[in-house]
Amino acid sequence: MTKHFIDFDDYSHEALQRIIDSAMTLKAEHKSGAFNNSLENKTLAMIFDKSSTRTRVSFEAGMTQLGGHSLFLSERDIQLGRGEPVIDSAIVISSMVDAVMLRVSSHEDIIEFSKHSSKPIINALSNQSHPCQILADLMTYQEQRGSIKGKRIAWIGDGGNVCQTYMQAAKIFGFELNIATPKGYQPSQPFIDNYRTSVSHFSDPMDACDGADIVVTDVWTSMGKESEKKQRLNDFKGYQVDQKMMSAAKSDALFMHCLPAHRGEEVSAEVIDGKQGAVWAAAENRLHAQKALLIHLIG
Ligand code: CP
Ligand code: NVA
Repeated sequence: MTKHFIDFDDYSHEALQRIIDSAMTLKAEHKSGAFNNSLENKTLAMIFDKSSTRTRVSFEAGMTQLGGHSLFLSERDIQLGRGEPVIDSAIVISSMVDAVMLRVSSHEDIIEFSKHSSKPIINALSNQSHPCQILADLMTYQEQRGSIKGKRIAWIGDGGNVCQTYMQAAKIFGFELNIATPKGYQPSQPFIDNYRTSVSHFSDPMDACDGADIVVTDVWTSMGKESEKKQRLNDFKGYQVDQKMMSAAKSDALFMHCLPAHRGEEVSAEVIDGKQGAVWAAAENRLHAQKALLIHLIG
């Protein structure tokens, strides 16, 4: 059966930890200037129907560094964007490349693509989840603080795609996840039901941050929700991660954010640019985590 990387809960703790460990080794190797040709002659197709900086650059640079090649396929340019069925696109594209990375609006399209693809599929952000980001976040925490097992993570803000992968990670890696979202912006009901045992829900973000080892947030207006921006700015009042919120967490707590960030909305400049911010380290780790994932899938 073809291996894919669509959601954290398709993987065991051991398998995910092996990818993170391999990412740390690849990072050290890259910093030492050593060459690694593990993916020589391999091609990664990257399908995007949404914008990206970190995901695109890390997959593209990662393939180059491993001796392979990547194809940037914007939905504006390929026939998928003009209505060619997902199934037909999956059969054809996967017959020519070694793996396919998709950043598309519909999670169902990723599942559909994977069913008809002869090569591994990577979910590079859907409306439901963002597993590539959480791999890098976990790697960053482990590098800076050690094991995340038993730690307390406070998620503040929108209970969307990134939050939902944190819910899966909490169960798999054995950490406590405190989620504080405004009313109407909770994670979807199946996620609330499936991850009850490792996740607690709060309405007051200060309570969620109490004693936390990491405080994490995401944009208030995700891609595709731009028409709701004005309403969201209003609804998320009181949910900005600021110094006061960070003071409710442990004194050595890290602040994380998948980026892009909006200073003055979901996070204050003081927090993201302050000494507790681990965002640049996590963004760089996207590169190393992606390389480890690619080697795991097609190396
Ligand atoms: N965090 C993240 O996925 O960033 P991009 O949207 O820039 O890829
Ligand atoms: N929740 C954000 C994450 C961006 C990386 C979005 O979907 O736009």
